[in-house]
This record gives sequence, C-alpha cells and structure tokens, in this order.
Amino acid sequence: MRDKIRKYTEEINSFRTSRKEELEDFRIRYLSKKGIIPGLFSEFKDVPADQRRDIGLMLNELKNTAQEKFDQILHLLEAAETVQKPSLDLTLPADFMETGSRHPVSIIWNEIIAIFSRIGFTVAEGPDIEDDWHNFSALNFQEEHPARDMQDTFFLQEQPAFLLRTHTSSVQIRTMEKTRPPIRALFPGRVYRNEAISARAHCLFHQVEGLYVDRHVSFADLKQTLLYFAREMFGENTGIRLRPSFFPFTEPSAEMDISCFLCGGKGCRICKGTGWVEILGCGMVDPAVLDNCGINSTEYTGFAFGMGIERIAILRYQINDIRLFFENDIRFLRQFRSAL
Ligand code: DAH
Repeated sequence: MRDKIRKYTEEINSFRTSRKEELEDFRIRYLSKKGIIPGLFSEFKDVPADQRRDIGLMLNELKNTAQEKFDQILHLLEAAETVQKPSLDLTLPADFMETGSRHPVSIIWNEIIAIFSRIGFTVAEGPDIEDDWHNFSALNFQEEHPARDMQDTFFLQEQPAFLLRTHTSSVQIRTMEKTRPPIRALFPGRVYRNEAISARAHCLFHQVEGLYVDRHVSFADLKQTLLYFAREMFGENTGIRLRPSFFPFTEPSAEMDISCFLCGGKGCRICKGTGWVEILGCGMVDPAVLDNCGINSTEYTGFAFGMGIERIAILRYQINDIRLFFENDIRFLRQFRSAL
C-alpha cells in the first residue's frame, strides 16, 4: 500500500498539461468515484491496525495533492482562455434596435394636457366604475333620461347601483365635492357605452373633461379658452364656432366646431363639404350642479367642456376607423412618432 501511494504521489507531482482534455483524463484517473484514490480508500479497510494511522495520513495527503494539482491547472487553463478571446471591436456597426412609439391616443391625451397646463389647468382622474350619483344624478340628469337606459349604459350585473362611467363628467362632481374654487382642472380617462362596434363607434373610448369654477367665470372665458385650445391643437389659423345645444349639466350648452384644417373652410371629405368639424361639447356649469356639490351657485360660476380623444386623433391623423385604436396592429401603431 505504501509503495503504491508513493508511486501515485510521484506521478501526480510530475503531471503537466496545457490541454483541458488531458486534465479531464487526470481527474477521471485519480479523483472520480471509480478512480485510483477512492479505490485506495476502499482498500484501506484491509490495512492492519498498527499501520492505519500512517497510511491514513499518506492517503489523505495523496488525495489533497491530486485535488490541488487539478485545481491549479484548471485555474491556469481558464485564465489563458479568457486572455485568448478576441477583445471587443468597437468599430463594428451596432445591432439595429427598433424603438417603440406611443399609441396615438396617448399622444393626443398628452398633447391636450400639455396645452391646458400652459394656462394653469391641473390634472385629476376618477374611477372607471361609478355610481349613479356621480355619473348621472349630480349632473342633473332626470330619472327618465334616456342615457340611463340599459341600451346606453353598462350596469354591473351583480351590483346594479354601479356602472361603467359613460363620460368623464363624473370626475367634475368628484372634484367639486372635495375641493373649493378656484378649480381649474382636466380629467382624462376611459369611458364606456353600450354601443354596437363600427367604424364610427366603439363601446370603449377616451375623453378629456375640463372644468373651471371661480367667481366671475363667464361664457367669454369659455370661448377664449377653447379658441386657444383649437389653435394650439389644429394650427394658428383655426377658427371656432359655437352652436347652441343641450346637456343636462350645463346651461347654456354648446357644441364647438373648428374650421376645417384640411380645406381651410372650402369644403372637403373631412368636413363633408361644410367647412366645419365638430370636436367637443361645452357650456356654463348649471347652478344646480354646483349646488349638488356644495358650491354656492350665487357666488361662483364655471364652465365645462368634454371631448373624445379618439375623435381628435381621427381628425389630426385622418384615420377612418375607430376600431384601429383598439386592435394594436403594429403596422398601424408604428406610424405614430411624437415628442410627447
Ligand atoms: N359629457 C358629454 C358627453 O359625454 C360631453 C360634455 C358636454 C362634457 C358638455 C361637458 C360639457 O363638460 O360641458 O357627451
């Protein structure tokens, strides 16, 4: 046994290689489960008791020598490999990396907010799931108003007291209930309507609501604010016109058209020959609505407006089908680039 151990110690000590395969042969020969050293350890049980101590020590030393030899050569080989790898070539052209683009609804959403924040409007959001009070009653909708009908509104099946908001006007109410004038804020968000989906209508779309409440807010303020918006959004030569209309929560109410940005008013496909395109609803906040929110309507007045974001995007980008906004077809989406 002693002689064998000496012989293997010598062999191991003189082992040299610069090849990984040979190092692996070495490991298999001496260290692997069926290798020489584990073999010697299993012979160890036959060693007479008086020699066990010495031979045990020699065996352990042999094992350590082999393991150290292996580790040392492995380390050297790996170090050599790293050095030999070709170093980074900084002159190679970079891999092409496609950058993403924003969704057109997000672009217009951000643009509207940017335009109004320049004149002091802040931004707030409300919940998509609303109650009847915030979506209808507080906004002065009568009990029998057709908008409350199942045909137009998605009510929650299990909780019919709750519904998916049909407009962002609900956030006006939430804001006026918890803040006192002056209020000058925008409320962007998703709205839902129980409509058949077509090129012109969708059951889900986005609106931005605007609200300004203070002492002495007048219809002239409303008109000037919306003219500013129209020119920022559609170009400085844009004109506006207000047509009388009706909304339960504003009095008087109006719909606003902009002069057609495509034909300049001469009449074309976009404005259907009229020279004007409708873009939003607006009006003076009905005193009953202020009172519903605990704002004294003899002291304060306000104006409000609401517009569909997809509608603005459709006009700006001349898109002919609202469904495109929700299909996420990459060929559609990658056409929009913007700084916002
Ligand atoms: N809520 C209206 C709608 O969804 C839009 C609207 C009209 C909002 C007039 C207003 C407003 O704030 O004053 O059709």
